[in-house]
Amino acid sequence: MLESNYWRGNFCIEVSPAPGTLVIFGASGDLAKRKLYPALFHLFRRGLMHEESRIVGCARTAYSDEAFREHIRPELSGGSESQVNDFLKRVYYHAGDYFAPEFYGSLGRRLDELERGCELPANRTIYLAMPAKLYPPILENLSNAGLLTEPEDGSSWRHVVLEKPFGRDFDSAEALDLQLHRYLKEDQIYRIDHYLGKDTVQNILMLRFANLIFEPVWNAHYIDHVQLTVAETLGVEHRAGYYEQAGLLRDMFQNHMLEMLAMAAMEMPASFSPDAVRDEKVKLIRSIRPFDLARLGESVVRGQYAGYRSEPGVAPDSTIETFVAARFMIDNWRWKGVPFYLRSGKKLAARKSEIAIVFKHVPHSIFTPIRAADMQPDTLVLKVQPDEGMELTIQAKQPGPKLCMGGLSLNFRYSELPGGESFEAYERLLLDAMLGDQTLFIRSDVIAESWKLFTPVLENWGEQCPLAVYESGTDGPEESFRLLFRDGREWRPLVPEL
Ligand code: BG6
Repeated sequence: MLESNYWRGNFCIEVSPAPGTLVIFGASGDLAKRKLYPALFHLFRRGLMHEESRIVGCARTAYSDEAFREHIRPELSGGSESQVNDFLKRVYYHAGDYFAPEFYGSLGRRLDELERGCELPANRTIYLAMPAKLYPPILENLSNAGLLTEPEDGSSWRHVVLEKPFGRDFDSAEALDLQLHRYLKEDQIYRIDHYLGKDTVQNILMLRFANLIFEPVWNAHYIDHVQLTVAETLGVEHRAGYYEQAGLLRDMFQNHMLEMLAMAAMEMPASFSPDAVRDEKVKLIRSIRPFDLARLGESVVRGQYAGYRSEPGVAPDSTIETFVAARFMIDNWRWKGVPFYLRSGKKLAARKSEIAIVFKHVPHSIFTPIRAADMQPDTLVLKVQPDEGMELTIQAKQPGPKLCMGGLSLNFRYSELPGGESFEAYERLLLDAMLGDQTLFIRSDVIAESWKLFTPVLENWGEQCPLAVYESGTDGPEESFRLLFRDGREWRPLVPEL
């Protein structure tokens, strides 16, 4: 690792949320248990949850407050028993039927009561941790009960946090959007993409826009191509019901992959405000060249891991893809002619998410007989996970009397920093939802633009991109290698991190 005098002259913008109530629908579900309670407990331990704030879980199961607290206690790790008890004192439960209007009336009274008891401002964040098909009926009921109306004097707010999928194509996404806007203003809607909560993804903006040395070379004059990989070793696990309807393009490309591409390629926003950042993202996505539908097979590869069709809940003749690789071109001055290769898949050789910026060869070599084209191009890898950090590979002289040149890796790992305790993506996102900061949440126009790009692919790739079967534990189907090979390039190997 590089000797780094860590965080020299560091500068923190840390804002704690005002007191308020977080209402979690789907409180006994998997997402709430695995992600939300641990994240909230972490925030609480870090002093990032206001003393007076409350959490109210809602679900069908009849729990008392006490029984619900015991139900979530096992999910709260990493703190002392007294911290767990202190946190749980702030947790309440309200059971009911999501389809029954009475439930919303009684929830409203319960929230009023809690707010009166502790003199809380009535800031409320409502987290819908449940399938998207339930959003419209729940929002309609919440709205009818007056639970989404913000006071005109601006004394408090109502935010609603939603999980993907936001539609399954352009039309369904538009229909969902219309329904959401029937009950909510855009500045009340917090659409989650958990990749944006990852520190390393947020770091892309700091790296690019808080340093002088990268921006001058961040363009088509210096960059040969970019590789964006999100590889997983796990298969579909217990999620076949969802996955058989979605497939990898909808599950990963339409959201996480495109968001990361936008962060890496967008122009500098006018400021670090939510709309300035999201304006640049949407502008970038609009600049992506639509796929040539007559020649889709030349830029998109579709794969399925061997054995997928035998997974529980998967149709024996399923054509759902578990792997996609694609070449994107961005039609603007900065990226003219620079391909962005994106790939993601399940059951691959390694769990690895990274963005590799591969620079051009030097124009001329004085180190004869080594030719410029023989030298490895400089490569900057933004390592998103699991070994979070950055790696810059450059050419350097190897020590010793002979003139030997080789690639030298300058490798920075977050995990090696003192105090580099990991911060879960959901912590950042929950904190921002409670703060009212939408920078890391997806705006409605980004969703529409991304579906405009991918819907024609989904509708046309059947014949042109035949489903290529690949063995588990490999780097994906042969066709994916050919995609780059045709352009005279190759994928970085998916070597597991040590
Ligand atoms: C989810 C997808 O959004 O992201 C999953 O639905 C995928 O299929 C997961 O496994 C990957 O997230 P992470 O944070 O583990 O890389």
